[in-house]
Amino acid sequence: MITEQEFHRIVVFVKQKYGIDLAGKQVLVNGRMENYILRNGYSGYDEYMAKVEKNPKGEEARNLINVLTTNHTYFMREFEHMDYLKQIILPQLKAKESAKKDIRIWSAASSTGEEPYTIAMVLKDYFGLDHKLWDTRVLATDLSTRVLEVAQRGKYLKEQIDPLPESWKRHYFKRVSALEYQATSELKKEVIFRQFNLMNPFPFRKKFHVVFMRNVMIYFDDATKQQLLRKVYDYMEPGGYLFVGTTESIDRKGNKFQYVKPSIYQK
Ligand SMILES: C[S@@+](CC[C@H](N)C(=O)[O-])C[C@H]1O[C@@H](n2cnc3c(N)ncnc32)[C@H](O)[C@@H]1O
Repeated sequence: MITEQEFHRIVVFVKQKYGIDLAGKQVLVNGRMENYILRNGYSGYDEYMAKVEKNPKGEEARNLINVLTTNHTYFMREFEHMDYLKQIILPQLKAKESAKKDIRIWSAASSTGEEPYTIAMVLKDYFGLDHKLWDTRVLATDLSTRVLEVAQRGKYLKEQIDPLPESWKRHYFKRVSALEYQATSELKKEVIFRQFNLMNPFPFRKKFHVVFMRNVMIYFDDATKQQLLRKVYDYMEPGGYLFVGTTESIDRKGNKFQYVKPSIYQK
């Protein structure tokens, strides 16, 4: 079992680098890490963390993230946001951006890809035959390289894609084995996956029209959340929309977002 001191060392590192607040989650941390550490030949937590801290951009730090992040997601999650995108936001953007035909949507904690692929399918549906005239590629980022690999492969079990509308399954997924379906290259090319830590300065050249930052701020403490929301605000177009998870809310005292309706905000 992990000692108080060993646990504290991990909590401090993970909070400082990735914003993730693990305080009180000693059992979870030990459950996820003990096996990994022993299997990989470390004498214990201290030897492991010494290696991680020595090279925070290295492979072991990546493995730590891959083991400690919670990546649960699924197709059609909080689908009311996708309806809102299609019915309210896209008509506005289609009119506003008719000259440049460039719509920038960011899935800021994309996990294994279900969220950004769904956004891409909504965009394809909405624009129909005009889609090829527009650049609507979705930027999808996550801290964990493991989930990004899954997302880029785009392979899902039949049960995972089952909740999708039949026409989407037919158009955007092909069966690749008895149990698995894979996103078609037509769908994959609509999403650009990149590793990105939300705690880092934002490197984006252009501002976003829509940001999905759903079910990730739950892992951050209030100060970290507010700081992140201020950064996101600065990187959004005027009038741009922010979606957070439907069980989340943001405290508007620390930032300038306007409340639209539960879990939807606007710059
Ligand atoms: C529960 S998933 C949410 C997936 C999707 N947005 C949804 O709502 O279903 C949370 C994701 O946030 C990512 N994450 C946690 N801390 C992060 C950080 N500092 N920067 C970027 N992504 C982070 C995790 O790796 C994980 O994949």
